[in-house]
Amino acid sequence: MNILLLGANGQVGWELRRALAPLGALTALDRSGANFERPDSLAEVVARHRPDAIVNAAAYTAVDRAEGDVARARCVNAEAPAVLAAAAARLGAWLVHYSTDYVFDGNKPAPYVETDPTGPASVYGATKLEGERAIAASACRHLILRTSWVFAARGANFAKTMLRLARERDELKVVADQIGAPTGAEFIADATALMLYRLAHDAGLAAHASGIYHLSGGGAVSWYDYARFVIERARAAGAPIKVEPARVLPIATADYPTPARRPANSRLDCSKIGSIFGIYAPAWETQVARLVDELVAPL
Ligand SMILES: NC(=O)c1ccc[n+]([C@@H]2O[C@H](COP(=O)([O-])OP(=O)(O)OC[C@H]3O[C@@H](n4cnc5c(N)ncnc54)[C@H](OP(=O)(O)O)[C@@H]3O)[C@@H](O)[C@H]2O)c1
Repeated sequence: MNILLLGANGQVGWELRRALAPLGALTALDRSGANFERPDSLAEVVARHRPDAIVNAAAYTAVDRAEGDVARARCVNAEAPAVLAAAAARLGAWLVHYSTDYVFDGNKPAPYVETDPTGPASVYGATKLEGERAIAASACRHLILRTSWVFAARGANFAKTMLRLARERDELKVVADQIGAPTGAEFIADATALMLYRLAHDAGLAAHASGIYHLSGGGAVSWYDYARFVIERARAAGAPIKVEPARVLPIATADYPTPARRPANSRLDCSKIGSIFGIYAPAWETQVARLVDELVAPL
């Protein structure tokens, strides 16, 4: 299989470099080789590489900054994926694209399924939804994988921020009324590779598998309990944690105003990917424990 990976330096992109390598010839490009702020240039990039599958891990992910940078967020998250979808359709290639729980408004009192109505509350969520729609409206075969609360050893994420602040501060206040599932970039990348492998070797599956899938860590947690888990795991491993457990305090979303609104419920029901591809998510605790152990292990 000839695979073109875009956004190869992000959390997910970096893990995809590893996970996709055994599938065949892999070309991994970062912003310097495929700039999503120049969508028209991407058609030529795809035509030059003639991939069997395009895996797009590039995105404008700065959720709060996007509120004041709408044109750029839309260009990267919607216009560029539309060009990729048209290029994939011309070649008959698969397009794998990642999306987000932020396409939902977060008011549903249960995990979201793929067919639930969307209703993004932020520019980031709205532009990601536009990207989904452009791909779905194209003629290309696609996997749109909606995920949530992504973390990795490489890159910026909530778990790493909490570990840093827990070493520096006496007190931490963390939002306790938003729930979701932390999802390891390693897991996302491994699941992607398994899906592409199965599509390449099972024509029956490939004939009907195109569509949207939810893919997140197993279980659910609030940001507050997620922070406590990370900090206590690091403390138990001997990391120099400054903040005492009693000084990690729960707060409400209303007490932590941000430019972008975030869903209160980010839980994604992942049964569809289980029933169609046989992919089941490990509990979020298993994935996060591995990250913390890696980050705090002595050299
Ligand atoms: N992070 C999360 O919590 C989260 C949650 C739900 C869904 N997702 C989705 O999961 C996917 C992967 O996210 P991630 O966490 O891996 O994000 P990330 O670590 O922020 O990586 C995004 C990558 O996109 C690249 N990029 C941004 N603008 C670009 C441009 N104009 N041209 C080319 N590349 C550009 C960045 O390049 P530079 O390194 O050069 O900046 C970066 O390598 C995205 O589709 C995201 O929307 C993420």
